[in-house]
Amino acid sequence: MKKILVINGSPKGKYSITLHTALYLQKKFADCSFEFLHASQKIRSLEKDFSVALKAVEEADLVMFAYPVYTFLVPAQLHRFVELLHESGCYFKGKYAVQITTSKHFYDTTAHEFMRENLSDLGFNVLEGLSADMEDLPTEKGQTEAEKFFSYVLWQMDGGSSSSCADPSGRIALVADLEEGDTALKEKMDMFIGSVGCPVDVINIREFPFKGSCLGCFNCAGDGECIYQDGFTDLLRNNIHKHDAIVYAFRIVNHSMGSRFKMYDDRQFCNGHRTVTMGTPFAYVIEGDIDAEPNLKKVLEARAQVGGNFLAGLACTSEQIRKMSAVLRYAMSERLVLPQNFLGVGGMKIFRDLIYQMRGMMRADHKFFKSHGQYDFPQKKWSTSIKMYLVGWMMNNKKVRSRLGNKINEGMVAPYADLLKDDK
Ligand SMILES: Cc1cc2nc3c(=O)[nH]c(=O)nc-3n(C[C@H](O)[C@H](O)[C@H](O)COP(=O)(O)O)c2cc1C
Repeated sequence: MKKILVINGSPKGKYSITLHTALYLQKKFADCSFEFLHASQKIRSLEKDFSVALKAVEEADLVMFAYPVYTFLVPAQLHRFVELLHESGCYFKGKYAVQITTSKHFYDTTAHEFMRENLSDLGFNVLEGLSADMEDLPTEKGQTEAEKFFSYVLWQMDGGSSSSCADPSGRIALVADLEEGDTALKEKMDMFIGSVGCPVDVINIREFPFKGSCLGCFNCAGDGECIYQDGFTDLLRNNIHKHDAIVYAFRIVNHSMGSRFKMYDDRQFCNGHRTVTMGTPFAYVIEGDIDAEPNLKKVLEARAQVGGNFLAGLACTSEQIRKMSAVLRYAMSERLVLPQNFLGVGGMKIFRDLIYQMRGMMRADHKFFKSHGQYDFPQKKWSTSIKMYLVGWMMNNKKVRSRLGNKINEGMVAPYADLLKDDK
């Protein structure tokens, strides 16, 4: 039985929304034991005696940091807890750590990165976290994402091998920019094909007879038809996008994937801003050192985030290729999709507003956004607005406010607490 220690980083203690995701996981994964440390609420006593926390961390198989995103980062109390971990002088070599947050996705990315950097410095083996919207858990989608996320965490803790996941039934498109004589990239592609264990179709865009790069002519805005008649839209829509996973192989050139891949990407404008591969896992086989390329790394992450694609890995070394192959197989067989973070949610809000404004011209995009519920304008959620007016009235009335006490926090977690009842 795996021992999970939940470090509750919310100052709200038991009224924390994020804590309820952890409590939900406790309910769903009865074969794990969960222990809770209300670290933020108890920070003053932990400053006096940190040994309780250290003992709990030592005994856990997985340390799960559950906290709200606060002002680009984490609450000051959790920030202090991280300092105390550093000050303890302990090194938690190889101990698994993971983070779950709730927020409105405003800079959840920097909060996650802050925790990842610090926990890595402390020796933890940090697994990819879950960044949920604060309103996710009461929805079916939010519950499925939380459960799939935690199964993925447990699978990784068990070694994350391909043999321990069901055979995915799909095919993979390996879209490469492979120049003749580039044996280093070819070897990596072959290594990937050999280790992934499901059919792979190689599409070398170096050999595709592109007539040219995107001209920005907007010929495609109405019906998606590109001005070029070179068969690219057909390759994209009826071949590449029909696959169950898409892996890109490239050599890093001038801090990018190279101009051939840029041509490929820009020509995808025939699909406008439509997230047509939503749910399809992505991965990259790379010749070069991606860790030395923070901007390119951000572009690859952002592309997957905006498109709603699970990113199985950016693999440069043979070990990374093997690991990425196993994760990709897992993602395909489990249909793993995690919630979008700031990169995805923020990007899509900009597109949403843009397409709505340009709907008269961008007809294909408008139709897609409408039919996929992507016009999620807040003014449509009028019942929430009315509730907020009511709460606002109560909070602004001193007499009512003094009588409310903790009722606001209690009221806020009520729908989450409901989920934990036995009959749910
Ligand atoms: C001081 C403060 C700062 C916050 N900063 C952010 C932020 O930077 N980004 C964001 O998306 N949400 C932010 N929020 C919203 C919380 O992250 C969100 O309400 C969260 O779900 C609360 O979780 P909890 O109930 O577990 O504490 C902030 C809230 C507070 C009170």
